[in-house]
Amino acid sequence: MELGCEARARGVRLISLDEVDSTNDEGKRFVAEGERGPLWIVAGRQTQGRGRLGRQWVSTPGNLHASLLLSGGSMPSLAPQLGFVAGVALIDAVRRVSGLGERLALKWPNDLLLDGGKLAGVLLEGVPIATGDPRAPHECIVVIGIGVNCASAPQGLPYPARALSETGSGAPTAARLFAPLTDAFIAALDLWAGGDGFAAIREKWLESAASLGQPVRVLLARDEEVRGRFLTIDARGRMVVATAEGERVVDAGDVFLAHDESIVLEQSGLRS
Ligand code: BTN
Repeated sequence: MELGCEARARGVRLISLDEVDSTNDEGKRFVAEGERGPLWIVAGRQTQGRGRLGRQWVSTPGNLHASLLLSGGSMPSLAPQLGFVAGVALIDAVRRVSGLGERLALKWPNDLLLDGGKLAGVLLEGVPIATGDPRAPHECIVVIGIGVNCASAPQGLPYPARALSETGSGAPTAARLFAPLTDAFIAALDLWAGGDGFAAIREKWLESAASLGQPVRVLLARDEEVRGRFLTIDARGRMVVATAEGERVVDAGDVFLAHDESIVLEQSGLRS
């Protein structure tokens, strides 16, 4: 694995490991030792890969498992925006190396889809650090974990999953994708500009959003469910859904697109 030229020129560093429990956990251990990034940690294999909401992330060799550790600035409330920065960087990089164009789309909050199936996910974690400076007493170090199914997609999930390898013999490998990804992150972070450019990131994200205007079902905590049409994401990155009772703004949840449910039925043989 190698960093892209732009990432190298900006002083980004890279640690490449054969195996680790989780590149995000390794990143958090580095933060505890004083590391502040920007640093990429990549592993060929993870023994305890983690997904959002405490789920397991199946991490087979050949897929990309990488985490970027960097300072998220002194306003922890802005750190969640970095999930959208990651989505924009990820779709740009995968489009550049794969030529898959419109077959790729972003799904709220942080998934990358290929032909409607999950190709990649982002796990954003923040570590608050006391700075000792009374004017800005806290800094948030973020670890942005990215998993891309380059070689293979896990089976038996409650949602459809895809891998780049399914797109043909010229499909990009994890090593081929990684350098452009690191450069795409530099471009997306520049656009974000520490939060001042979130409107531009939001616009780019929406340009590639899956199912805008389409029916969605969102599972919230405590088994609450919201059904309606996906209208947009708001200025804070929350999902706005038009329901029969009016607009509903969703902070966190699992989104099921109408399309997901038909693919799952097909894959399980319940529908042809
Ligand atoms: C999700 O969609 O649930 C997020 C998946 C994130 C997986 C990546 S793989 C690299 C990094 N290390 C982890 O343990 N998780 C993230």
